[in-house]
Amino acid sequence: MCEAHFNCIMQSIETRSSQGWIIINAEYEVVYVNESFCRMWQCTRENLLGKSLLQWYDGEKQNSQGRYFGPLIETMATGIEMQNVEARLPKFFSDECIWQLVDTFLIRDNKEKVEFGVASYSVIERFKAIEQQLNSINLKVIKAFSKAIGARDVYTMQHSEKVAALMFGLAEAMLLSKHEVTLAYLAGIVHDVGKIGVPENVLNKPGRLTEEEFILMKQHPTIGSDILRQIDGFADIASIVLHHHERYDGKGYPQQIAGESIPLLSRMLAVCDSYDAMVSARCYRQPVTKAQAMAEIEKCSSSQFDPVIAACFLRFLNSDLSLTAVD
Ligand SMILES: [Fe+2]
Repeated sequence: MCEAHFNCIMQSIETRSSQGWIIINAEYEVVYVNESFCRMWQCTRENLLGKSLLQWYDGEKQNSQGRYFGPLIETMATGIEMQNVEARLPKFFSDECIWQLVDTFLIRDNKEKVEFGVASYSVIERFKAIEQQLNSINLKVIKAFSKAIGARDVYTMQHSEKVAALMFGLAEAMLLSKHEVTLAYLAGIVHDVGKIGVPENVLNKPGRLTEEEFILMKQHPTIGSDILRQIDGFADIASIVLHHHERYDGKGYPQQIAGESIPLLSRMLAVCDSYDAMVSARCYRQPVTKAQAMAEIEKCSSSQFDPVIAACFLRFLNSDLSLTAVD
């Protein structure tokens, strides 16, 4: 890769990534923050660069109960990197706290001494609000499903989280009720849970499935729906999951129902699911660009997808609302 191309990619990360990035040196001094970081923490680079993160905590790394002031400080102090840690962190210049999903890692020199600590942040405030609406049993069930999917197939887990974020954003853009927005998010998380019942060699096969393998794969909406139906209060989600591969023209599966006979949230899932599958990299194919995926959604509007939902989704992707849902 030539230097100009590399710089161009770095510039995109700098200005277009929806994640906030920070790098600190071994003295905890901030050496880099990107635009998203400044936006989510409502500060400027000048406020932060060259300053020690510890200055916000009177030079301490832990509070009186021995808890570290955030994942990055903990990683620097303990040498333990973290992935997908949910943390409620205070903003730099106010008492307001926001929920963040944080990854941390360390950069060491050739003598293994820590030179830099790096952290990325995604705002999960809105998703936390959903969790607060659920009772703790339902929340535990959903988290257990998410883990079970991840243990079997990491791609499906990450895909489910991204589909859930898209469903949440689309449901809000369509001005659905609070209850439906919550259902949309949860349906996104669990929509492929039935893949637990698909043989490993079919699930992770690189490349095209044979006809027999495709028959096995096509059972996942029914398997998922049967699992979810066993849980008290999950009947609605079970039905949404059952129909997430139906097509608007009736040529989908498992029941070949068409149009508005397909539950609204299943029609929304069909669009969000296909979009994320197109823009995600798999070991056997390159992702397409956002513009190409949007063109494909438009092309398949009225055949595969509900035209009204497809149009809403495209409008949503073009709006600022999509910035926290789509990387
Ligand atoms: Fe699926």
